[in-house]
Amino acid sequence: MMRSWIHFTRGRIVRQARVGLGDLREEHLSRHGFQGPVAMIYRTDGPNEIVRVEGDYRARAVDSGDVVASDADDPRGDWQIMLSNNEVAVAISRRRQPMPYCYRNVAADLLYFAHRGSGIFATEFGPIAYEPGDYICLPKGTTFRHLPDGRDQVLLVVESPGPIRLSEHENVGRHAPIDPTMLEVPDVVDYGFAAQNEYEVRLRHGVGEGAGHSSIFYKNDPLRAVGWKGDLFPFKLNIRHILPIMSDRIHLAPSSWATFEAPGFAVLSFVPQIAVADLNAEELPSYHRNIDMDEVMLSHADADPSGRRPGLFRHTPQGILHGAPEAYRAEFQKKREPGQRRTGVSVGVDTYRPLTPSPEFAKMAG
Ligand SMILES: [Fe+2]
Repeated sequence: MMRSWIHFTRGRIVRQARVGLGDLREEHLSRHGFQGPVAMIYRTDGPNEIVRVEGDYRARAVDSGDVVASDADDPRGDWQIMLSNNEVAVAISRRRQPMPYCYRNVAADLLYFAHRGSGIFATEFGPIAYEPGDYICLPKGTTFRHLPDGRDQVLLVVESPGPIRLSEHENVGRHAPIDPTMLEVPDVVDYGFAAQNEYEVRLRHGVGEGAGHSSIFYKNDPLRAVGWKGDLFPFKLNIRHILPIMSDRIHLAPSSWATFEAPGFAVLSFVPQIAVADLNAEELPSYHRNIDMDEVMLSHADADPSGRRPGLFRHTPQGILHGAPEAYRAEFQKKREPGQRRTGVSVGVDTYRPLTPSPEFAKMAG
């Protein structure tokens, strides 16, 4: 989207956005995430004091630990789709038992994020052991078995028909926010799985609510490989290895924290970092309406017990105003001091086309 340098001002404003607001409230109305044309609207009253809502177009939130997915109890079960459009589906897997088959998504790249639980993705490229905070990227067509350890599993699953790639942040060099050699890439092993008469490869075809399964049975073990080479492979990256792009003078827009991108969406990592030190500048995110993007957020962890509750899964449809309400802001401002840090870890999926909540998610959110 083309940006222009033609900006107008009318009425009372602050010249440097987010700094020195005084009695003003600043509301950020923007196109194309935070990258397109923008208006900052100034008010003297809080714009997000909701009295009531009518209709179905609204933000929704559930605790991801309450999500019921059929893969929790049935090894042949599926993750639960929460939201989807033609370009991406966002789901939650609660898988507790090993996949009794090899799995191959022939319609989409898969990006898992392990919120709770550990285990192994046994792939034909080699094993990828995971722990909380790991992103596991399995390109379309990768053959694997998901072998969870234990029963406490909450994994975010992002299905993308378009290829998922690491986001470029060209202005900050090649080693931040991610040094590419921090990716963990598997090596072939002999898994030592017991021999079988036939090996099932369960194909997932279609994306999101339209996905279906078919199985092809092979004589030889599809996970047995003795080597591989190329520039197409699964990998993992722990969110703690992401070094944030940050400023202690202005709250940067979340697009600074994009980790992965694919046609139609970006995956953002919110990681601990220094807070805005200038007490005259806003530390909390502005009131904002991203009129071109739906926002999905999973809170992963927070070192501060009074911070955002880990496990909360939220969807804010495009155009819905959000931002902490007035009472929270006033309380927060009172406690601010230089040197403060942001303690939360969250993962976001921001999409350019509207997402449709699944009936199950809509029901769970009430
Ligand atoms: Fe937002």
